[in-house]
Amino acid sequence: MSEIMIVKNLTKRFGGLVAVDNLSFSIYKGETLGFIGPNGAGKSTVVNLLSGYLMPDSGQIIFDGVDITKKKAHERARMGIARTYQIPRPFPELSALNSVMAAVVAGKDRKNQSFEDAGGEATHYLEFVGLFGKRNILAKDLTFYELRMLEMARALATTPKLLFLDEVMAGLNPGEATRAVDLVVRAKEQFNLTVFWIEHVMAVLIEAADRIIAIHYGQKLAEGTPEEVVNNDAVIEAYLGKGWKKYA
Ligand SMILES: Nc1ncnc2c1ncn2[C@@H]1O[C@H](COP(=O)(O)OP(=O)(O)OP(=O)(O)O)[C@@H](O)[C@H]1O
Ligand SMILES: [Mg+2]
Repeated sequence: MSEIMIVKNLTKRFGGLVAVDNLSFSIYKGETLGFIGPNGAGKSTVVNLLSGYLMPDSGQIIFDGVDITKKKAHERARMGIARTYQIPRPFPELSALNSVMAAVVAGKDRKNQSFEDAGGEATHYLEFVGLFGKRNILAKDLTFYELRMLEMARALATTPKLLFLDEVMAGLNPGEATRAVDLVVRAKEQFNLTVFWIEHVMAVLIEAADRIIAIHYGQKLAEGTPEEVVNNDAVIEAYLGKGWKKYA
């Protein structure tokens, strides 16, 4: 398997806090990589660094063979990197359709983009996430679940190769969470994605992930198959807790 992203010695400090501490790992083309760790471990910060929303203090990020360490978020989006947010960040006054159209345009070179084409493409992604019926509703009037789906549609609309998911299930009821997980699995298939997936619900990552990386205090704690990582003593100690039943 070949690497789609190589992360080398990544470090990010917030004042005196080292949120990401000399972290190195690879993401392989076509895999679903689960990313776990306790609250405050640095998971969202890693997504922010890899998608370009934060700049690292040191380290290097290679994507598709290109050093993107200094590239801005919008440049990375055009290269094929997309992300969703742990807490959805809609444009409140934009309709669902216009929100996704903006993402269609952000995902590509604008020279050849017509307004009609962007509308057609956006409609396709709204249908995919089940929001076609809500296309003319303003984002501020959507439910939390619908906002999550809008985030997914916006991420997919940039036609990514590598998709970062920062907690798809958080804030959803069990039925919605199941639908959201199904959507990720379908999206990966249909759009040929590599998926980096932060989630606190272990059963979901055990099922969906090819590999899992666990971090703690911004440092790598364990890396391996889901079974290896959830059976790792350091991961149980730092994150899963003593009540965790070893995966049979
Ligand atoms: N912009 C910021 N400014 C200052 N500190 C920050 C900032 N973003 C994150 N932090 C701190 O960095 C650490 C890592 O935060 P991060 O959000 O990456 O954790 P996380 O693993 O995503 O946690 P959770 O599971 O709760 O989402 C925390 O101590 C957090 O308070
Ligand atoms: Mg987080």
